Amino acid sequence: MTDGTIDYGERGRVIVVADAGALAQHAAELVRDTTREVVSDRANAYVALSGGSTPKAMGAILGAEPVRDEVPWGSVHFFWGDERWVPIESPESNAGEAIRGFLDHVPVPRDQVHPFDTSGNPAESAAKYERLIRTVVPGAPLPMFDLILLGMGDDGHTASLFPGTAALSITDRLVTENWVEKLDATRLTFTAPLINAARHVAFLIAGAGKAERLAEVLDGEHDPVRLPSQLIRPKHGQLTWLVDETAAARLARAPK
Ligand code: 6PG
Repeated sequence: MTDGTIDYGERGRVIVVADAGALAQHAAELVRDTTREVVSDRANAYVALSGGSTPKAMGAILGAEPVRDEVPWGSVHFFWGDERWVPIESPESNAGEAIRGFLDHVPVPRDQVHPFDTSGNPAESAAKYERLIRTVVPGAPLPMFDLILLGMGDDGHTASLFPGTAALSITDRLVTENWVEKLDATRLTFTAPLINAARHVAFLIAGAGKAERLAEVLDGEHDPVRLPSQLIRPKHGQLTWLVDETAAARLARAPK
């Protein structure tokens, strides 16, 4: 298979790259290019990061030369699309890992890095994050992120929208707490309406373990309670699936 793009119509555009390393590189360049383009036009860019292994590798690239010197850090605000209910010091914390991994090593003003507050209770924390997003991120009726990065689990979840969970049907909130039975844990997550208001949503998906589920998500019936990643369909924005060759192996359509 050669690198290329697959048109999935209203389900988005799939970009296939060689491997997880190439995926991290492509994602870092997407953050760089998006933020540069946005700030050539207006004061600030708004990006939501995701948890997972690929974003970690992407962070290492963003935090090192040459890409580090090419991002307009002073004008970028960072949020997270989901978070675990752990203190930021925990290695399980999505924000904590990104801050320690690269944001601490680049010249982004600290007050433009917006992790969830996981000190109170989950419902309050979700409401507080929603208020923060409404205050900081422009857009009406919904705040509009310039770029939201997402992962996809091998069960089809994205952000912390897990199959069969209550958060899937929430349409009147931007952020919610979500009890995930199979993890025996509470997560905090953007809801689908907030994600779908973004200018660009990009999934980062690598590895053979994701291949079958990705094919179901893109080629299969619409069944978002079982495959929450199917809830992601930006209303006016772009949807990109950045995938490596092993994750793309079961797709019905081939890259051009
Ligand atoms: C999390 C994530 C989650 C993740 C996927 C994919 O906090 O766990 O936000 O949605 O992105 O599970 O993770 P990998 O890329 O590590 O497979």
